[in-house]
Amino acid sequence: MKKNSTRIEPLSEEEINNSKVVAVMNNKGGCAKTTTSIAFGLQMARLGYRVLFVDSDPQSNMSQRLGMDDNMFRERRISELFQKSEINQSKKERLSLPLAIDYPYFSRAKGSSEKPGILALLPGSRNAEIEAKASKDRFINSETIPRPELTPFFKERIDVFREYFDYIVIDTAPAMEGNVLNVITTGVVDEIVCPVDGLEAALGIPSLYRWVYGKTVENNITPNMTFAMVKYHTDSFNLGYEEEAYMDDEYVHNSVYQCLKETFGDFMCKSGVREQRTLRNAVQGFIKSPYQALSNELHDRFTSEIHENIFEATDPTILKIFSERLNVIEKKALVKKPTFKEPYFVL
Ligand SMILES: Nc1ncnc2c1ncn2[C@@H]1O[C@H](COP(=O)(O)OP(=O)(O)OP(=O)(O)O)[C@@H](O)[C@H]1O
Ligand SMILES: [Mg+2]
Repeated sequence: MKKNSTRIEPLSEEEINNSKVVAVMNNKGGCAKTTTSIAFGLQMARLGYRVLFVDSDPQSNMSQRLGMDDNMFRERRISELFQKSEINQSKKERLSLPLAIDYPYFSRAKGSSEKPGILALLPGSRNAEIEAKASKDRFINSETIPRPELTPFFKERIDVFREYFDYIVIDTAPAMEGNVLNVITTGVVDEIVCPVDGLEAALGIPSLYRWVYGKTVENNITPNMTFAMVKYHTDSFNLGYEEEAYMDDEYVHNSVYQCLKETFGDFMCKSGVREQRTLRNAVQGFIKSPYQALSNELHDRFTSEIHENIFEATDPTILKIFSERLNVIEKKALVKKPTFKEPYFVL
C-alpha cells in the first residue's frame, strides 16, 4: 500500500442500503449552503458515520474551508471524474479520487460512544462545470448505442461511493438553472436541504421547488426536500401574525419562517441558526457549532421511518399562496416599493 493512503473497507449490505446522498441547494448565493454542508458532515462523522464531502461548486469554497488550497491535488478533483467519463474505469479507479481528511482536533460527539467516522473529500474544481458540460456533449455526439447520458453516468459514480460512505454530502453552486452539475445532482440525491437566510432566499423557493419537481418527473426519481432557517435575524417590522412561531423552543419573530412553516409544515426544520457576527468569517467547520442541533435534526429526519416525501405530500399549487404571503412580507420590508413605467427613448 502507498504511504499516506487510507484503505476503506466497504460498508455492510444493510449500511449500504441506508447510505444517503444529501445535497444542500438554494438559488441564492451566500445563504450558508457551504457552512451547512460542512457542519452537517462533520457532525455526522462525530456521531461515527463515514462522510464523503463532494464539492460540486466551481468556487470550491467547501474544499478551501476544509483546508485544501486551490493548487493542491489538481488530479484528484471532481473535474477529473468528468474528464474520464468515456473511459470504462474499474471500481478501484473510480474510488481513487476522494481524499481522506485528517481533521485536526476532531473528536467524537459528546455522549457518543462511537469512534468518529472517516472523513473524505472529492474536491471542487473551477473547471468542474466546463468538464461536466464537455462530457455531456461527448455523450450527445456518441455513436455508442444506447447512447450514454450524463445523469446515469454521475449516478453510477456516486453509487460506488455509497458502498463506502454512510453520508455523501454535496455542496452546490447558487443559481440552479443552466448549471449542469446542479441538474445531475438532482438525479442522484435522496435528500435536498434548502437553507433560507431571509426573504430573498425564500422568494427563490417556488422556482427551486418547480425545478426539482420537474427533474423528479423527468428522471422518475423522488428526492426529498427539507427547509431550514440559517444565518437568519429577527424582523424589524411587525406583520401582526397571530400564530406563534417557535424555533429551538424559543419564540422567533420572523415572518419568513412563519410563512415557510405555514406552507410546508413538517418539511420545515424546528432548529435554526441565527446570524452571528462571530460566524461571519468562520473559515473552517467549528468544533462547537451552532449548526449542531440542526444537523442532528436533519439526521433524525433522514433516518426516521415516517419521513414523508415533499413532492408526494404537497403539490405546486401551494406555491401560489406562498408567493402571495411573501409579497405581503416584501411590501412590509420595503416600505416604499418603487413602481415601474414603460421607458421611452428620445433619439
Ligand atoms: N449563522 C451565521 N451567522 C453569520 N454568518 C454566517 C452564519 N453562517 C454562515 N455565515 C457566513 O456567511 C458567509 C456565507 O456562507 P456560505 O459560504 O456558507 O454561503 P453559501 O450559500 O455557500 O455561498 P455561495 O452561494 O457563494 O456558495 C460565510 O462567510 C459564512 O462564514
Ligand atoms: Mg457555497
